Amino acid sequence: MLKNNYKPEIKTKLPGPKSKKLIAIDKKYVSPSYTRDYPAVLERAQGVFLWDVDGNKYLDFHSGIGVNSLGNRHPAIIAAIKKQMEKSLHIPSADFYHPLAIQLSEKLSSLAPGNGTKKVFLNNSGTEAVETAFKLARYNKRRPRMISFIDGFHGRTMGALSLTASKLNQRKYFAPLVPEVTHVPYANCYRCPLNLKYPSCEMACVKYIDDVILKKVAPGEDVAAIVVEPIQGEGGFVVPPPEFHPLLKKVAEKYDILYVADEVQTGMGKTGKFFAIEHWKVVPDIITTAKALGGGLPLGACIAKDKLMSWQPGAHSTTFGGNPLSCAAALETIKHLEEDGLMQNATKIGNFIMKRLEKMKDKYEIIGDVRGKGLMIGIEFVKSKKSKEAAPDYSNKIAYECFTNGLMLLTCGVSVVRFIPPLIINEEIADTALDIFEKSVQKISSQKKR
Ligand SMILES: Cc1ncc(COP(=O)(O)O)c(C=O)c1O
Repeated sequence: MLKNNYKPEIKTKLPGPKSKKLIAIDKKYVSPSYTRDYPAVLERAQGVFLWDVDGNKYLDFHSGIGVNSLGNRHPAIIAAIKKQMEKSLHIPSADFYHPLAIQLSEKLSSLAPGNGTKKVFLNNSGTEAVETAFKLARYNKRRPRMISFIDGFHGRTMGALSLTASKLNQRKYFAPLVPEVTHVPYANCYRCPLNLKYPSCEMACVKYIDDVILKKVAPGEDVAAIVVEPIQGEGGFVVPPPEFHPLLKKVAEKYDILYVADEVQTGMGKTGKFFAIEHWKVVPDIITTAKALGGGLPLGACIAKDKLMSWQPGAHSTTFGGNPLSCAAALETIKHLEEDGLMQNATKIGNFIMKRLEKMKDKYEIIGDVRGKGLMIGIEFVKSKKSKEAAPDYSNKIAYECFTNGLMLLTCGVSVVRFIPPLIINEEIADTALDIFEKSVQKISSQKKR
C-alpha cells in the first residue's frame, strides 16, 4: 500500500492531452538529439514532487539528473536568488570581481580534499568544468596525452567528448576528436573487462594501465592527466573496489601524471561525503563538479591545487561562468547540505534503500546487480542472473512503467535504472518509491515468464 503523504497522483492517460499537443510542437521545432526515456512535459516542481502540464503529480527520483539535491525550489535557495536579483543579475567574472563568486571559491577550496589552498574556476556546466580541467592539465604539464575510461562520461563539447566513451551515439560522426586520448578499462567488478574476479584479480585492471598502456601505448611521460569518475555515473553507476583509486593514484604519481576526479555527478554530498573520492581517501590534483552545485541554476567548477591553477590572465575565461544568481544558490545549497545533515541522511536512506533492493535482487531473476553509495544507487537488469546478458528492454520498460505509476527515474549504462533522488527524502518517501518500483519489476518480470 502506498503511503498517502507521498503518493503520486496520475489523473490522465499518459501522456495527457496538453502534453501530447506540446510534444507534437517539440517534434517540429526542437532538436531531436535529446534522449527522453518517457513523454513527461514538466511544468511545476516543489520539493520531491513534479507536476506535468496536465496536472499529474510525480515523485522525483532523478532530481533533474542529480541537480536538485535540496529538492526543487528549496525556500532558502529561492530567497537567496531573490535577494541577489535585487542587487544584480549578471556580472562577468571575465572582467570584474564579484563577492559571491569569491566567497563560493573560498568555500569550495576549503571543501575539496587535501591540505593547502585550492583555486577555483567557475563556469556554467559539467562539460565546461571538464574542458577547464583538460586545458589546465595541458597548460601545466605541456604533455599531449590524456587517459580516461571506457564507460566514462565527461560531457559533450569536443574536449570533454574526447574523454567520454560511454555510448557510441555520443561520439559517432564527430571525429576527429581531440587526439591522443587513450581509453582504458574501469574497475567494473560485476562485468570485469579482463574477465577476472575481485579480489583474486589483484586489481589487474590498474596493473594493465601501468604495465601495458603507459609502457606500450601512451608513454607515461607524455600523459598530462588521468581523468576518472570516482563512481561512473552515465556509464551505469559503477562503484569501483576500495583499492582502485589509491592504486591508480600511485600509478599517476609514478609518471608525474595529474589525477582529475570528475565529480560532476558524484559531488555535492550525494554519496554521503561532499566529494565521492573522499571514500577512497585519495586527494586529486583537480576536481570538476557541477549539477547539484548550483542548487538548480547552471553552475560548474574546476577546483585545482593552488600551484596548478597558475595560468596567465587570458589563458581561460568566461562571460557567464560564476553568475551571481548561481553563486547565491550554490552558497545556500552548501550551507544546507552541511547544516541539515543531508550527507548523513544520504548515507542513512541510501542504506535503507539498498537493503530492500538486495531483497528484490534475491527475489527477481532479472535483477543482476544492485550497487551504489549514499543516494546514488543503480539496479542492473539482465536476461538471467547466470548469463548476465544486459537487458535494456527490461530497464527501459521498468522506467516507463514507474513513470505511468507516478515515479520518475532515469536509466543509465546499458541496462541500469538509477535512483538519484533529492537528499531530503525520508524512509516513508523511499518506501513509496520502492513500492512503485517493485510493482513495475514484478510486472515486467512476469511478462518475461509468459
Ligand atoms: C561525470 C560527468 N561529467 C560531465 C558531465 C557533463 O555535464 P553537463 O551535462 O552539465 O555538461 C556529466 C553529465 O552527466 C557527468 O555525469
